Amino acid sequence: VRTTRFLRRIPDALAALGFAAAMGCGSGETVDPKPDGGNDAGGKIPYETLSEYGFFSGDLKDQRPTANVHRYEVAAALWADHAEKDRFIVLPEGGKIGITDREDWAFPAGSIIIKTFRFLDDLREPEGPSRLIETRLLILEDEGWTSHTYVWDDAQENAVRTVAGKPITVSYVDAAGDPVEQPYNIPNTNQCKGCHARDDEVHLLGVATPQMNRSVGGKNQLSALADLFTKAPNPNDLEAFEDPFGNGPLEQRARAYLAANCGHCHRPGGGGGDSGLVLLAWETDPSKYGVCKSPAAAGAGTGGHEHDIEPGRPEDSIIPFRMASTDPDIKMPELPNLLPDERGIDLVSEWIASMPPVCP
Ligand code: HEC
Ligand code: HEC
Repeated sequence: VRTTRFLRRIPDALAALGFAAAMGCGSGETVDPKPDGGNDAGGKIPYETLSEYGFFSGDLKDQRPTANVHRYEVAAALWADHAEKDRFIVLPEGGKIGITDREDWAFPAGSIIIKTFRFLDDLREPEGPSRLIETRLLILEDEGWTSHTYVWDDAQENAVRTVAGKPITVSYVDAAGDPVEQPYNIPNTNQCKGCHARDDEVHLLGVATPQMNRSVGGKNQLSALADLFTKAPNPNDLEAFEDPFGNGPLEQRARAYLAANCGHCHRPGGGGGDSGLVLLAWETDPSKYGVCKSPAAAGAGTGGHEHDIEPGRPEDSIIPFRMASTDPDIKMPELPNLLPDERGIDLVSEWIASMPPVCP
């Protein structure tokens, strides 16, 4: 009963948005949803193809948002093996978000967050052409946020829902101008929970106040999106992450990087919570965020080092050691990326090197 009720609501919300494709056509005019009057249309959520949601107008691959689909950026992105990302918030008609000081904004039922992964043809041309790989959705249903993945076809015309995930190869020209063939993992939908769930509940990770409280195109993003909230936020009163690779203070940049890339697991209730290592940006106890902290488990994962962070000595610290590893038993983050993030390792190492030696 519960499911049926929900399943009706989302297509209604999509229909109210004028999402023509949700109603079986891609042209933008409003038509009667489905032959049976629409109630059954909801049975199709999640749709088998991305185009059916009607999020975008024109060529799907251009991802030109329709009304109620709002592009956003985070301050500190998750490293994903050189992939670029596009992110959008979709609200049901009239729906508003209740903002919070930090995380777990209150979204109306039927909200959808979209994240597309794509590879630039040439890493030296950030505005140049790119190839779309996968589009991930989190949809707020009665049981909470549900995860879905759509894999783009070779023609770049549409993306088809997959549950299993798959390893693929991507090709591009790298920053040095050399052609690269790189393995890339499209995760299966069970793996989403590995990062998005804590205490068994799926949470949004980047759609959070310190991540969204940043400048985009010369304007504060929370202010630019003010209409989406029940009450316009005041960005000056709210926490903001530093851009890890910007010009801000080193410590805040490194902490923002670790929060974005590791904090979803390394926190109480998260997948790495039992290790006791807390990589949230607002953790104030240095011994919790790794300084002079002995690892919970001995073995290969330590690289023979004593502490997660050995102040002043990145080369003797477990954190950068595990970030640089490609051994599946050692590497951090655990899954599903394959390549170490050299810039991230440099940043965290620079921060550790800047700490005065303090361990007993
Ligand atoms: C390795 C950890 C990890 C895994 C696995 C993962 N995500 Fe995420 N996801 C993140 C992080 C961190 C963010 C926020 C940072 C960003 O947007 O770059 C995020 C952001 C998102 C967003 C934007 C909304 C938000 O939470 O901020 C969507 C949608 C999303 N993920 C869907 C998925 C789906 C679907 C899967 C499974 C197929 C998945 N993710 C697997 C870590 C992960
Ligand atoms: C998908 C969840 C997940 C992500 C993301 C993740 N970790 Fe972990 N991490 C774990 C788990 C589980 C353990 C405990 C088992 C082990 O040591 O392998 C752990 C253990 C560790 C340890 C040993 C800590 C101790 O004191 O015992 C370090 C150091 C570490 N992770 C660093 C990182 C860093 C740095 C990142 C981000 C770049 C990261 N992890 C991202 C799950 C994760």
